[in-house]
Amino acid sequence: MKVIVVENYEEVSAKAFEVMHELVAAKPNAVLGLATGSSPIGLYENMIKDHKENGTSYAACQSFNLDEYVGIDRNHEQSYYTFMHENLFNGIDIKEENVHLPYGNTKEDCEAYEHSMENVTVDIQVLGIGSNGHIGFNEPGTSFDEETHIVTLKEGTRQDNARFFENDINKVPTHAITMGIATIMKAKKILLVATGANKADAVSAMIDGPVSVDCPASVLQNHNDVVVIVDKAAASKLK
Ligand code: F6R
Repeated sequence: MKVIVVENYEEVSAKAFEVMHELVAAKPNAVLGLATGSSPIGLYENMIKDHKENGTSYAACQSFNLDEYVGIDRNHEQSYYTFMHENLFNGIDIKEENVHLPYGNTKEDCEAYEHSMENVTVDIQVLGIGSNGHIGFNEPGTSFDEETHIVTLKEGTRQDNARFFENDINKVPTHAITMGIATIMKAKKILLVATGANKADAVSAMIDGPVSVDCPASVLQNHNDVVVIVDKAAASKLK
């Protein structure tokens, strides 16, 4: 794992953009694995700015998102489909038909998403990390062999996300559909971004801890091309 520690969120976002831009510049038809949440918003802002100012094009790119809530409509303001359009897709020239997010709550929906990725390899998978070490919505205890599946969200994760649902945990969906860890690990390159002291324990377990389902992100120690970009607060518990 390559670990880069910088000062703050802005620097994390700038560094993450450098990694993303280098890849897309070299491979205009790159397959992008994308995440939602607060962590990659700055990266996405930089991608939009660069697209507008320098013309970097995503017209030949495809994207596959990690996850989506179950039980809310795609057009719900808090769906990850809406999030991705508002925070990235509407600001760049990626084609709607090349954008993929998982959707649904059945085994068939999960298989269909895996099937849609069958003939592609994700060139770069953007990840955030949960305060409990989850990646995608793969909560602690999830087998590393899982592909796309339906998960029951842990109460802590729902609490973390209540801020997007009028601070009311009862409004946060209880289930999600997510790429599994086996799906994530197929990506050629992983770019994980994390900031803030509330991520320090998870970042430490991911990098310095044993590879264990107790910290799903620790599986990344087994991947041969991972770049972790963190701010000082998130890095504060690293050895
Ligand atoms: C989002 C996702 C989650 C988040 C994680 C961190 O698609 O898969 O694993 O990356 O919950 O969320 P933030 O960035 O909001 O702290």
